[in-house]
Amino acid sequence: MIRRMTNRRVLTDAPLLDAAAGRTPSRRPVWFMRQAGRSLPEYREIRANIGMLESCFRPDLLAEITMQPVRRHDVDAAILFSDIVVPLKAAGVDLDIVPGRGPVVAHPVRTAADIDALPGFDPDQVAAVVEGIGAILGELTDRQALIGFAGAPFTLASYLIEGGPSRNHERTKALMHSEPALWDRLMSRIDPLITGFLRAQIDAGVDAVQLFDSWAGFLTERDYRRHVLPHSARILGAIADAGVPRIHFGVGTGELLGAMAAAGTEVVGVDWRMPLDIAARRISAALQDDDPADGRGDSARALQGNLDPAILFAGESAVQAEVRRILAEADRAIDRGDARGHIFNLGHGVLPDTDADAITRTVDFVHAQPPAPR
Ligand code: CP3
Repeated sequence: MIRRMTNRRVLTDAPLLDAAAGRTPSRRPVWFMRQAGRSLPEYREIRANIGMLESCFRPDLLAEITMQPVRRHDVDAAILFSDIVVPLKAAGVDLDIVPGRGPVVAHPVRTAADIDALPGFDPDQVAAVVEGIGAILGELTDRQALIGFAGAPFTLASYLIEGGPSRNHERTKALMHSEPALWDRLMSRIDPLITGFLRAQIDAGVDAVQLFDSWAGFLTERDYRRHVLPHSARILGAIADAGVPRIHFGVGTGELLGAMAAAGTEVVGVDWRMPLDIAARRISAALQDDDPADGRGDSARALQGNLDPAILFAGESAVQAEVRRILAEADRAIDRGDARGHIFNLGHGVLPDTDADAITRTVDFVHAQPPAPR
């Protein structure tokens, strides 16, 4: 067996890791997707004179920005401050992140020649990220997990093919359906970039990883299973031996949750559209269909989610009512054996105009509730 150098901490009392593994956490773990960002005045200040991508390659800045929401909100996890396009940028793809818009690729990838010209991955290209992770780990307590992440191949392919954010992903779907062999070739070219980026983070010591397939919800389950799942499964499988919990998340994925769980994941992220108990039922039923020999306990996954980010604008009593509903739905799923644990989160990222104090109060309220029963 090949043993890798690892800087991973041994955390015996981190609520997020306990919930992900089906153990009873000391408190209900909570973190927020996009917790680092424009909702924080200290983030806006630090980013005033530096570009988004530039800050992702500055170890001091990425560490500081990662820690800002942890200090302010007392969340149970830090998420590495980076972006899904960072490994593409690091490998030399000409792209930028345009404020208010998102990643924009200078030369969209649409032909076999474009695909073959995509660069490979060299861990040295993300040395700055690795250095930043070291600094973050030095600051976190042993109850706070550091989550690394990458974009999933479908979502990254969409940015590469469309050339930027897309409303309908039409060029992406067109390639998938008209030239499936070319589609597979593109997915296979992106795979090492994603796996390499995740491996670099894991070797640097992150405690968990999240694969963001933000736009997978635009696909039918049939297309997801045929054209995407094998590629995401290969990536998740390549890091299975690392022993860190894998979180798999997408938006609008109610119909895909079973397939996304089947890709190989300990935790399934659920957006706000579907109650967690229904999501859990779908996941455990789909996993049992895939592998009927699975005992019931083995087909349960931990859940992550799923407060609608817009509710944070609705005032404290509305937030509390929704948090109570979500916790009750998660607990029901666990009671029924459909889920193994619950990590509280939003159903998608923090919206930029969110009041930072509303986030802190929500974290406090979740922590004041009993952890999920077992
Ligand atoms: O706190 C965290 O969650 C960690 C940081 C993080 C960022 N991007 C920082 C960021 C994470 C996990 C991401 C992932 C990401 N990036 C995804 C998947 C998650 C999701 O939201 O679905 C996607 C689709 C992207 C692509 C991307 N990058 C978009 C759509 C945008 C927003 C553009 C805008 O200005 O509205 C970005 C830029 C980006 N990534 C920002 C941040 C904090 C905003 C940059 C800024 O502050 O100007």
